[in-house]
Amino acid sequence: MKRSKTSKAWMREHVTDFFVKQAKKEGYRSRAAYKLIEIAERDHLLAPGMTIVDLGAAPGGWSQAASERLGSNGRIIAVDFREMLPLPGVTFIQGDFTEASVLAQLEETLGKCPVDLVISDMSPNISGIGMVDQARGMHLAELALEFSMTRLNSGGNFLVKVFQGSGFDEFLGNMRASFNRVVTRKPGASRGRSSELYLLGLGKQD
Ligand SMILES: C[S@@+](CC[C@H](N)C(=O)[O-])C[C@H]1O[C@@H](n2cnc3c(N)ncnc32)[C@H](O)[C@@H]1O
Repeated sequence: MKRSKTSKAWMREHVTDFFVKQAKKEGYRSRAAYKLIEIAERDHLLAPGMTIVDLGAAPGGWSQAASERLGSNGRIIAVDFREMLPLPGVTFIQGDFTEASVLAQLEETLGKCPVDLVISDMSPNISGIGMVDQARGMHLAELALEFSMTRLNSGGNFLVKVFQGSGFDEFLGNMRASFNRVVTRKPGASRGRSSELYLLGLGKQD
């Protein structure tokens, strides 16, 4: 099949991208790893021995970067409906996080283990219809927030990808009501033209 102009432009941009080259050099599975690394360093999110839930984890850049910083006592449970190759210290659940059966599997895997940090980089499959994609993206962020509120330790943290647009202000309000402090982050590896940004809730309230 012939490549479209946009997919050719995407490929050209991808192969010349600094973070793609860096990920190849340093052995990270995705350029996205650098988004978490930058935020985690700035906000001191990762520490040895933590338990983390990584939502929308494939191909695994965030889990990989986190597991390197958690050490052998750390634990990561990663969820994605796409396949993900194994990583040390990471238990992978393949399935759709919006489905009750997948949530139940995640709950069962966690058992009574308290969760220190939830990270969600979930992005919906893009339909190309702006309003639909925005609504789908916000829905994923809301489900991740709901999960965080039931499973995070008191004082735990939550990092989530959101897209600026309809529903954003309401979601930000919900975050502010749930955490002691909420900050926005746009890491260097997040493309400037993308409306994506990250909200970080620090200190889950009881
Ligand atoms: C931007 S990628 C994540 C990249 C990842 N953080 C990394 O560093 O490699 C977004 C992921 O969200 C996943 N995703 C989107 N909706 C999902 C859902 N409902 N349940 C599980 N995974 C989902 C996609 O399959 C995709 O792999």
